[in-house]
Amino acid sequence: LRHLLTLDGLPKEILCRLMDRAGQIRDTAMGRTQRRSDLNGGTVCTLFFEPSTRTRSSFHIAAQRLGADVLNFDASTSSTRKGETARDTLRNLEAMGVRGFIVRHAEDGAVAQLAGEAGEGTSVINAGDGRSGHPTQGLLDVLTIRQAKGPDFSKLKILITGDVKHSRVARSDLHALRTMGAGDIRVCGPASLLPEDDTLAGCQVGEDFDAMLEGADVVMMLRLQRERMEEGLVSSLEDYHRHYGLTAARLRRAAADAVVMHPGPINRGVEITDEVADGPQSLVLRQVSNGVAIRMAVLEMLLG
Ligand code: CP
Repeated sequence: LRHLLTLDGLPKEILCRLMDRAGQIRDTAMGRTQRRSDLNGGTVCTLFFEPSTRTRSSFHIAAQRLGADVLNFDASTSSTRKGETARDTLRNLEAMGVRGFIVRHAEDGAVAQLAGEAGEGTSVINAGDGRSGHPTQGLLDVLTIRQAKGPDFSKLKILITGDVKHSRVARSDLHALRTMGAGDIRVCGPASLLPEDDTLAGCQVGEDFDAMLEGADVVMMLRLQRERMEEGLVSSLEDYHRHYGLTAARLRRAAADAVVMHPGPINRGVEITDEVADGPQSLVLRQVSNGVAIRMAVLEMLLG
């Protein structure tokens, strides 16, 4: 594998190999303090044209733990502000010796396009493009589910709720869950926030959150992406919370040992209450720490 641009079509064998490796990394000093030399001499760049806390920081930590030099490119203080294109930015950084790019971009397909324009020995990882995909988030999400519920996804009732329409996380999660053989994938949200294309093929889709929660083993909540939203898609945040906010009372409809996930950043009190986000069933911070391990595994596979 040279680039990681999407989970769509990525074989289960590769998904499992990455999860197994991330698990090993987590279970040893590799995932914490030990510095290794796998990427020694290589420079990787986090090339982010959109904000990030988790993805950017965890890739930075992952690359450093593998012994790479890490360049954090900040679009807001770069020549992007003077009109330089993403392609020229990448080609110039490549000329300085960067061999791995971790790219986030607001436009669908922009990261794949950059990968097509990169030089021979360069690898590109999609860290989120538009609404299309966020493959390493999909990987860390299935890893988190596998740790909590075991390797057989076929019996799990997995519910994804919220702003699916604007969510690249949901798309990558769906790709990964289908590949892992998830048998019962439910998707819930107001009709205005559900995609109309074939994104949800094979899923049970509904607008009634309480009904969809019944018996769920995994409840994945999504952020309301107000920055990508046209006016009027949501009547009010209070109204949204009333219908789609995950509260402790609502969570009791799910299986007793259900786990709760959210990719972050969280709009607390909108899609999820503090009590649930910080409660005993929440795997939110587990997702974050798995992010470092899975990104180490991805960097190792692509650049090691
Ligand atoms: N989950 C996620 O992509 O978070 P960031 O936007 O903070 O990277």
